[in-house]
Amino acid sequence: MEWFVKAFLKSSISWLGLGVTLGVAMAVHPQFIVYRPAHVHMNLLGFVTMMIYGVAYHVIPRFTGHQLRNRRLAAVQWWLANAGLLLMVVGFCLAPHAVSAAPVALGAGGVLSATAAYCFVYNIWRTIDGAQHPAVRT
Ligand code: HEM
Ligand code: HEM
Repeated sequence: MEWFVKAFLKSSISWLGLGVTLGVAMAVHPQFIVYRPAHVHMNLLGFVTMMIYGVAYHVIPRFTGHQLRNRRLAAVQWWLANAGLLLMVVGFCLAPHAVSAAPVALGAGGVLSATAAYCFVYNIWRTIDGAQHPAVRT
């Protein structure tokens, strides 16, 4: 298994652990519901999306019989996705306290997270199509 596949699977379950912990905190202490967007994105962008990234990078090359189009891009995407989500969570947690850095963290994190998603779209799309020239694949 590629290291970035393992890294996506482990970051996915780590975000699940963090996300459900915040969920329980919100359930027992309703004032924490101001952090709901952080909970939602830890679970949906962290757990669900990163699980899909990791599983897709493992199975789609096997289903299609094509090598992954760009392994280095998948590794870069792991960093973008995790740094992006971390910044988004910081932004979502600071926003209810009117901290002026909150929109900056949220905006930067959102751009990184979206860039990660675009990398995935490109890499999987081109993998499904298969490369014309296998020698140039990285
Ligand atoms: C132990 C597990 C969990 C607990 C205790 C928990 C708890 C909560 C609480 C207290 C809320 C706020 C509800 C409100 O606004 O009144 C909430 C919202 C939400 N949770 Fe969780 N949660 C858990 C796991 C998850 C998971 C695994 C996901 C997704 C995969 C998830 C997705 C959401 C979503 C999307 C919302 C927002 C719903 C809305 O917009 O109305 N939660 N959760
Ligand atoms: C680049 C990635 C993403 C960005 C920048 C982003 C940004 C946002 C923002 C700014 C909000 C409004 C939060 C608020 O009410 O203050 C929001 C809400 C929400 N997003 Fe995302 N999002 C992203 C990806 C996703 C994904 C992939 C999912 C689901 C798979 C998702 C599910 C939701 C849900 C369910 C809400 C409503 C939250 C609530 O009930 O409080 N988002 N998102």
